[in-house]
This record gives sequence, C-alpha cells and structure tokens, in this order.
Amino acid sequence: AGHVMIGPSLLAADFRYLAREIERLEAAGARFLHLDIMDGHFVPNLSFGIPIVQAVRKATRLILDVHLMISNPEAHIERFREAGADYLTVHIEVAPDPRPLFEMIHRTGACAGVSLNPPTPVEAVIPYLNDCELVLVMSVMPGFGGQSFRPEVLPKIRRLRQLAPDGLMISVDGGVNGQTIGQCAEAGATMFIVGTGLLGHDNYSQRYRELAALVKD
Ligand code: DX5
Ligand code: ZN
Repeated sequence: AGHVMIGPSLLAADFRYLAREIERLEAAGARFLHLDIMDGHFVPNLSFGIPIVQAVRKATRLILDVHLMISNPEAHIERFREAGADYLTVHIEVAPDPRPLFEMIHRTGACAGVSLNPPTPVEAVIPYLNDCELVLVMSVMPGFGGQSFRPEVLPKIRRLRQLAPDGLMISVDGGVNGQTIGQCAEAGATMFIVGTGLLGHDNYSQRYRELAALVKD
C-alpha cells in the first residue's frame, strides 16, 4: 500500500490540553491530523468548528484533514480553508454530484475529498474518482468516536482500490484499531483514521508504531 499514513482523529483528544495532545501526536510520528466537524443535522451530534481548526493550525504544521459531516458544506468551505484546512472532505449523501464542491475546494487551494457512509453504495462515488484527491470510506455511521468497525465496508475499499486512479488516497474512518487496521490495509486502504484506537492509549508513540507495523507491506 505504499507509504503508511495514519491520521489521528482529534475527536478522541483531551481538549483541555489540545496543544499538548498535538505535540504528542507529532512526536509519535503523525504527519496528518483528522478533524471531525459535525453539525447536529447531517449527524446526530455536535463537535467543534472553525475556532478550533484555527487553534490547531496555530499549534502545528501537520497536514490538516478536515472531515465535514455537515449538511451544507458549500456555506462553510471557504472559511474552513481560511482557518487552515489542507484537505476538505464532503459527504456524497449531501452532494450527489460533488463536482461543484470539489471546484470550490480546489479554488481555495485545498485538496478535495468525498466520503460515503456504510449504507451508501460505492457506485455513488465512482463517477468522481478522477475529480478529487481522497475518498473517505466510513466504517461506522458518522457522529461518534469509539464505535465498532463494520467489516461489510471492506468490499467497497477493494472495489475502490481496483478503480482508483494513481495518487487517489483511499482513507478508512471509524473503528480502526489494532484488530481492524490490517484488514483495511489488505483491502487497499492507504490512509487510516484512528481516534480511540490511538488516543485511547497512554503511550501514543508505542501505539502509533504498532499500528504502522500492521499496515506495512
Ligand atoms: C466518526 C468520525 C471519526 C471518529 C473516529 O463520526 O468521522 O473520524 O473520530 O473515531 P474512532 O477511531 O474512535 O472510531
Ligand atoms: Zn472522521
């Protein structure tokens, strides 16, 4: 699967010590941070928004992978970019033709991603694989960290691996941990979003190394 990319999800961080959490993830070897934006509408939960993305941006030069679990991404894309997002991912369920959103994201200078929920067939995103840089396969229903991985999404990852143009990142998000990351890598994922499976442990460096070792070819 090429270079190992693990994207720690800040949703599982201790927000009292956000800068310290980011330093610990950097020290562990992270090159990406995954930021989960929830609107209480597309998903039945709220998380954090633009001020936190700005604060994270001030704390680090890591690549910020911003996952927009929101119903009207077009209204917020530019401000998330100004806040410091490097990747902006929108859900296919709110944008059945995501190309205008990709164009908006690309105009800001960010990379664009498309995400699909477990019940959404992979066919929904296949027409757009040449128009974005990242496909984010949800392996739980979005809205909450700490849920169990749904192995029925593995065939979707396999199908995307077969069809993906060179350079398209295939990311998997939800319930990724030491028990499930190997299956995701075997199916062809190239980016692994890990919340509780990393930040739920005391020693991030050790845990990061263990996870990375499980996805090496
Ligand atoms: C779920 C989010 C995930 C979540 C992953 O709505 O999109 O990124 O933070 O958390 P874990 O790894 O604990 O499932
Ligand atoms: Zn996410």
